[in-house]
Amino acid sequence: MSGARIFRAPGRVNLIGEHTDYNLGFVLPIALGLETRIYSTPSADGRLRVHSTAHNETRDWGLEQIASCTPQSHWSDYFIGVAREIAALGFEIAPLDLKIESTVPEGAGLSSSAALEVAAALALLQGRTLDGLEIARLCQRAESGFVGMPCGIMDQYVSLFGREGAATKVDCRTLESEAVPLPAGIAIVAVNSMVKHSLGQSAYRIRVAECAEAARAMGVESLREATAEQVNMTLMPEVVRCRARHIVTENLRVEAFVEAARTGDCGRMGRLFSESHASMRDDYEISCAEIDFLVGAAESLPGCYGARMTGGGFGGCTVNLVAAEGAAFFIGAIRHIYQDAWGKNPQIVECVPAAGAGEIL
Ligand code: GLA
Repeated sequence: MSGARIFRAPGRVNLIGEHTDYNLGFVLPIALGLETRIYSTPSADGRLRVHSTAHNETRDWGLEQIASCTPQSHWSDYFIGVAREIAALGFEIAPLDLKIESTVPEGAGLSSSAALEVAAALALLQGRTLDGLEIARLCQRAESGFVGMPCGIMDQYVSLFGREGAATKVDCRTLESEAVPLPAGIAIVAVNSMVKHSLGQSAYRIRVAECAEAARAMGVESLREATAEQVNMTLMPEVVRCRARHIVTENLRVEAFVEAARTGDCGRMGRLFSESHASMRDDYEISCAEIDFLVGAAESLPGCYGARMTGGGFGGCTVNLVAAEGAAFFIGAIRHIYQDAWGKNPQIVECVPAAGAGEIL
């Protein structure tokens, strides 16, 4: 596709603050070097056409069909869901030939879907200006309203607003963010369990409902407003109390982690990772055997400060905080240990905070 315009949007790894976004709390993701690129040229026949190199499939639509599309449980739902939202905002969709290429693994908890949505939004906008927050919101609407996954705003937000060289702390109530530089001498390593979270969507939906139930029981608008004391004292089903406890303690852990990062206290950062994982495993119940194994194995290795599952849950990746000088040893050892125990070769990514989405000029 010579002469194509190229739009890119990164995947992300969330350092801490899991399932807090739809409870209007805090998250601390970084945008990754892994990204989705969309190559765009005008289409000759007036249709909107998109080809996925990963799936080796092409889909196309007449421009007049876009508004009435229905979800097909297909990768192209993310794309056309975004097109519908952009059209609904009053932007004309141009007839384009688009080619999607991505280095973000699917189903790994590294947000391949948000990377696709954001790259699609930029490609469909073709440089027309729309506030970044509006783009994040329209992509989230496409995923929750069209694809049917009632996600929060974290993934789309950081895919747009990620910063090179720093994590991004997002307040999901105000949608303001700040850069959180990480101490020198640490490496962030994502280890993909290669377990795809097929359970994820239905369990995610249930967690969203349980959190809403807990908030109702405590008479607060969202769990962001709830205190640990309210969670302990209010009458609610035990399982709902556990879910709420995860959210309330996780928000506190994000703030403690940011403080530890600012003072360079890697030991504390690592302990907060471990506590976060225990809370996701026991209170939020979104882990699985392979992930718990990877976390335990990582924490027994020299130079690892702490490990936790990252992303929606039920598989995907762990994120590990490792002393930089020991990272190569860590990567070799965790690969070997996991392969030996589960017969799967984990994909391992050293995560370096990258900048958010844009056009490649
Ligand atoms: C998925 C969702 C996000 C967030 C995470 C869990 O990635 O898309 O909005 O809720 O799970 O932290």
